[in-house]
Amino acid sequence: MNPERLTSSPTPSLSSLDVYQEAYDYSLNNPEAFWLEQAKRIDWVRTPTVADRSQFAPKAEIRWFEDGQLNVCYNCLDRHLGQHADKTAIIFEADELGHSQRISFRELHQRVCRLANVLSSLGVKKGDVITLYMPMVPELVVAMLACARLGAIHSVVFSGFSASALAERLAASQSRYLVTVSQNCRGGRIHHLRDNAQQALAVDCSPVKTVLLLNSESSMTYPNKGGQKGVFAWPASVVVHNYNDLERTVSDHCPCVTVNALDPLFILYTSGSTGHPKGVIHSSGGYLVYASLTHQVIFDIQPEDVYFCTADIGWITGHSYGVYGPLSKATTLVLFQGVPTYPDASRFWRIIDEHKVSLFYTAPTALRALRQFEESFIDSASLTSLRRLASVGEPIDPPTWQWFFDVIGKGRCPIMDTWWQTETGGVLICPLVTNVRSKDSASIFESSANELLQQTNPSKNPFIHQKPGCAAKPFFGVRPVIIQDQKPVLQPGVEGYLCLEKSWPGQALGILGDEDYFQKAYFDVHPGLYTSGDGAKCDEDGDIWILGRLDDVLNVSGHRLNSAELEQAIMEHPEVTEACVVGFSHSIKGQGICAFLVTKASNYNELKQQIKQIVRQKIGPIATPDKILVVPDLPKTRSGKIIRRLLRKVIEGADMKTENLSSCVNPSCLITIGQSLEV
Ligand code: WT7
Repeated sequence: MNPERLTSSPTPSLSSLDVYQEAYDYSLNNPEAFWLEQAKRIDWVRTPTVADRSQFAPKAEIRWFEDGQLNVCYNCLDRHLGQHADKTAIIFEADELGHSQRISFRELHQRVCRLANVLSSLGVKKGDVITLYMPMVPELVVAMLACARLGAIHSVVFSGFSASALAERLAASQSRYLVTVSQNCRGGRIHHLRDNAQQALAVDCSPVKTVLLLNSESSMTYPNKGGQKGVFAWPASVVVHNYNDLERTVSDHCPCVTVNALDPLFILYTSGSTGHPKGVIHSSGGYLVYASLTHQVIFDIQPEDVYFCTADIGWITGHSYGVYGPLSKATTLVLFQGVPTYPDASRFWRIIDEHKVSLFYTAPTALRALRQFEESFIDSASLTSLRRLASVGEPIDPPTWQWFFDVIGKGRCPIMDTWWQTETGGVLICPLVTNVRSKDSASIFESSANELLQQTNPSKNPFIHQKPGCAAKPFFGVRPVIIQDQKPVLQPGVEGYLCLEKSWPGQALGILGDEDYFQKAYFDVHPGLYTSGDGAKCDEDGDIWILGRLDDVLNVSGHRLNSAELEQAIMEHPEVTEACVVGFSHSIKGQGICAFLVTKASNYNELKQQIKQIVRQKIGPIATPDKILVVPDLPKTRSGKIIRRLLRKVIEGADMKTENLSSCVNPSCLITIGQSLEV
């Protein structure tokens, strides 16, 4: 297929395996031509003449479009003002029902320019790191784009993180600026973000000098429900500004600062293989090309689409597919402040009907949680506007997939199971091929749905290459391999570590302040390859199935947590002498957290409560252990290393008699642990 057909709008229908294969082969065989062509989807100040100059060995260097120059905010806003100024950019669905707002591209542009001018007046310059500790409100999008406009680097810290998690991320990024809001409403409850920020800044050596408080109107839907706790105050060393005061003094006009393709657009902290979060650095040019193209193709974006991504902007999905991907193409997006179960479990479905959402991107954990409720919550919605569904964050189990397909998609909508990571910037593997263009499919299936379903496919799935739970195909230009017997291959039947053979434009540039970790964690494990940390297998059709993490990273409700991070928090309790955290399969969260402890304490119930409290304070509520088990001893190797693998087996209820215990010096403790689980 001619690569131009991917940039032209509407996108080509990836309607058969042949069409996909042709385009995919072209992208692999002519990578420079393919990617330079794709780069044209964004407006450059200086058009790049080279695409990929990356290498994985001997030292990893990620370099895409290196002589290109651009401004990311210009691409998400200014260039749409000619044709789409009055089009809705953001439909903000507030926590409380009936408080939605529409923001046009013109208004968004104006708000971004004003905030950018305020930031400039506070001294923000190209290359400065600005931490945004903000909830799901339009002001967060405005703040990200304002940073991008100035060439400043944003570091969004998930608003559910605690004060100490925020303090750690501020220190690690040496961020001199913090932008936050006083409070937020979520699920009918007030969250005091300002209190957390004040507490975070009270620690010694906080790098923050300037705080900008966006008194988000949208987060103030009901100011009577709580008010400020007022326990903390800002330290004397920071200057605190109220946006409302400064906004009046600035103009609506703000020029875009030109940056190089390789200049960082943002940093985003994620869990790595140590106890400390890693600041993943993403580029401006390559990242935007990749986020934009993948979003276009995977969602088959049409101008009239209304797109709803439920992920919090505090995670990479919210960055790539909640903000940059959709806005780069002037797609109308829904930004939802609340939770799927407030005021009741019909909330997502109501939003879909009310705003005529056509594209819906969510996570398996949310689907599993919603599936538990009575179908009456869904029956009240028609869901007829939907035409494509997608899932991300963890493997989607086939029953949940089928429910998503039948009950939410009414058998009309293909599901994109998108595999990727914070480090990859955008989707690398997903079932790209659907046998009908979904736009057309809506009309076909409405008229003769049953007939067609029966004729085309006995499994009642009218979309070819839709296997429940299968991520299936690599995106254009992406070369996945699976390591089996030390050899990287991709052929039917192989199973092992999932790696990538070549770079792609969305690939992270590095880890902030830790080049060594970047090299060792991702590129030295299998020299010449990028190692993802996930396992995968390839089926008889050559389709890829993701098996989940093979390292110590836990995936709890789609959130990445490291066991060491949790163990360090737990060890802060003075009466805990040893701790080991493992994941276990959990019916809603995907993985639950189980902490094994050795302790001097005698009141176990009190201890458990205190530990939960410590973890909430150190990391945040998402990291609260589901199970805490006090044990006399932990299984260890001769050198004293805890054997996590055996604890995982114990918690899954495996029979220890059949396990290989040869490396364990104290196997008897496993029997005791096993027995304590049975009661
Ligand atoms: C890890 C990355 C990518 C955005 C959200 C998570 C797991 C992600 C899938 C999927 C199976 C998946 C992997 C990956 N994961 N998507 N479709 N099927 N597993 O980003 O926090 O960087 O986590 O999430 O284990 O390594 P993240």
